[in-house]
Amino acid sequence: MLPKDQKLETPPEIFAQDQKNRWSSVESSIWGLKSESPEENVARSLARTLFDQPRRIEPRFLYDERGSWLFEKISTLPEYYLTRTENAILEKEAEQIIALAEVECLVELGAGFSKKTVHLLSQQVNQRGRGTFAPVDVSLTALIGSRDSVKQQFPRLEFHGLCACYEEGLLSIERSLPTLFAFLGSSVGNLDRSDFDRFFQLLSGCMGPDDFFLLGVDCTKEEEVLERAYNDVGGMTSQFILNAFENVNRLMGSNFDQRKMRYHSCYNLQWQQMEMYAVSTSDQKIDFPSLESGFVWKEGEQILVEISRKFEPHQLEQQLEYFGLESIAHCNDPQQWFSLLLFRRCSGRSQSGQS
Ligand SMILES: C[S@@+](CC[C@H](N)C(=O)[O-])C[C@H]1O[C@@H](n2cnc3c(N)ncnc32)[C@H](O)[C@@H]1O
Repeated sequence: MLPKDQKLETPPEIFAQDQKNRWSSVESSIWGLKSESPEENVARSLARTLFDQPRRIEPRFLYDERGSWLFEKISTLPEYYLTRTENAILEKEAEQIIALAEVECLVELGAGFSKKTVHLLSQQVNQRGRGTFAPVDVSLTALIGSRDSVKQQFPRLEFHGLCACYEEGLLSIERSLPTLFAFLGSSVGNLDRSDFDRFFQLLSGCMGPDDFFLLGVDCTKEEEVLERAYNDVGGMTSQFILNAFENVNRLMGSNFDQRKMRYHSCYNLQWQQMEMYAVSTSDQKIDFPSLESGFVWKEGEQILVEISRKFEPHQLEQQLEYFGLESIAHCNDPQQWFSLLLFRRCSGRSQSGQS
């Protein structure tokens, strides 16, 4: 039975009118899709990538409850410079960003626990006195953490968490609501080339004329720094990556065994990306009872779990122009390791980027 306050909640105004009935309350102030059979979608998606060549899984499967907490710990490690560097830029620049992005709503894609976002929220309250924060994340654990701290710190803000993937979140936000979409933490680096194109095509199409887009990107730098960041001495990243297989087992009833795999990461210079793999340490039969199928995961064979692409920010700004996004501000840390880029929709361009 749902707690009392959940039954009473009706989908808020941030949802487009024709999307409201697709969402229902899953927790106080948190919304989930009324999908008919989510298990089927998950199984289809995992089967598609695990039976592909080379095998891979989508990074969203990293974020079960344990995965979300492990990522929180990684983000405080000395080797993992990304979070603290982006946080320092946000702390310094949030005032200017919010002054430029005159909005009523902040939608954060892949928000996690929204710890860095407080700089933006605090400026929204200082400059406008009110607003709505709508984080979109597949992790309910992270959304609950975000809700509890944001509601406590910013009682003047409305909070509506969307427990869903980026695409569903983007498609559901009311277009006439002036919105700042934020995609922080270099999560854009987790999108491969085709997901990247699909993501920006969709984002641009979902943005209204009064919307802005704030992107946090990790820049190309010495390989040594990168490889250290994704292979910490304490082995936290290894635990995070291999934990994805516990989640897959739970979702698929499969029999991946962490004792028969090891973590491997490397920088692919040609593709400008860190690659994180699980490597099988012996020939083993992986069964998927729900699919009545399976495969032999051979000794030494790798499954790609996550990529983290690194960017030249100016090149990225040019690239995003072709998706109809015009850069209006660009902030870096002093070492130029990380960039925050602010965009708005280019006037006179269609969403496919053609004039
Ligand atoms: C690398 S963490 C970044 C968290 C936070 N933005 C930060 O900068 O620290 C990625 C977050 O995105 C979420 N996520 C991953 N794939 C997703 C997807 N396809 N749709 C929605 N959320 C996703 C994860 O649950 C996780 O909270």
